[in-house]
Amino acid sequence: GIEFSLRPKWMKEYIGQNKAKNKLDIFIKAAKEREEALDHVLLYGPPGLGKTTLANIIANEMGVNLRITSGPAIEKPSDLASILTNLGKDDVLFIDEIHRINRTVEEILYPAMEDYALDIIVGKGPSARSLRIDLEKFTLIGATTRSGQLTSPLRDRFGVMLNLELYKVEDLANIVKRSASFLNVEIDDEGALEIARRSRGTPRIANRLLKRVRDFAQVKSDGKIIKNTARDGLDLLEIDPLGLDSVDRKIIKTLIYNFNGGPVGVDTIAASTGEERITIEDVYEPYLLQLGFINRTSRGRIVTSKAYEHFGVKK
Ligand code: ADE
Repeated sequence: GIEFSLRPKWMKEYIGQNKAKNKLDIFIKAAKEREEALDHVLLYGPPGLGKTTLANIIANEMGVNLRITSGPAIEKPSDLASILTNLGKDDVLFIDEIHRINRTVEEILYPAMEDYALDIIVGKGPSARSLRIDLEKFTLIGATTRSGQLTSPLRDRFGVMLNLELYKVEDLANIVKRSASFLNVEIDDEGALEIARRSRGTPRIANRLLKRVRDFAQVKSDGKIIKNTARDGLDLLEIDPLGLDSVDRKIIKTLIYNFNGGPVGVDTIAASTGEERITIEDVYEPYLLQLGFINRTSRGRIVTSKAYEHFGVKK
């Protein structure tokens, strides 16, 4: 589908995340020169920043197959055992939301990652014995929103840890222009910047907003996206000039009006806004922190004067 073709397939097409990219370029080159599997990679950071895309690029650059699954999809140790035994030499296994795998499955991963081996128990009771099966060398790429959600034995088995950060507006504008060309929609620099500024540092959001602004431009004007079309289309979607949506606004306004600007614990924010704690922490807070609208203190979250100004409220 369209969504997939918007995704870059090679490192040279991948825009932004320069810190992660510079490291990966070196590790991939070194592994290829030695004709070895790449070491296991942990990708962590807020949702929508391209973790699956990077896994796909890594497999392409290494010239190996990619198998994609997720923590919650692997229910039993035998599910993981069958995935692992079916991997080819140096293949990449991508496990999204790896922090959600269960304990018994996680224990299969340890010898698999460390020794490329499966330890299985054969038989029952006194005659039970452990059998070791060798696996092909492979690369595990794990993705999670925060590395702190992983148990330390699992975290310690990743040789490469890459922190994906919210994208810069300029990088997002380039992603929007690239996607627009795939979607055959005309857009100018100012139009792309306007969408980028309202995308909360996240390519997945930028590409979604681009499609909605394309609809708006098609129906309300000549189909071309310029600054005013982008602005009016995004206003219609109730995305404010800084990219805040209704949930961001609810969080800030709750802190201001119900808690006098804080400090407030995140569980209290969750209870008073009706949003899940984990969603607040992983989806909303990273962008509000980056904007400098909230700060984390030991006693909870506080709203900054910058946020008061943006909402036109006197402190
Ligand atoms: N589409 C989504 N994320 C992208 C990225 N980082 N670079 C290029 N295109 C993208």
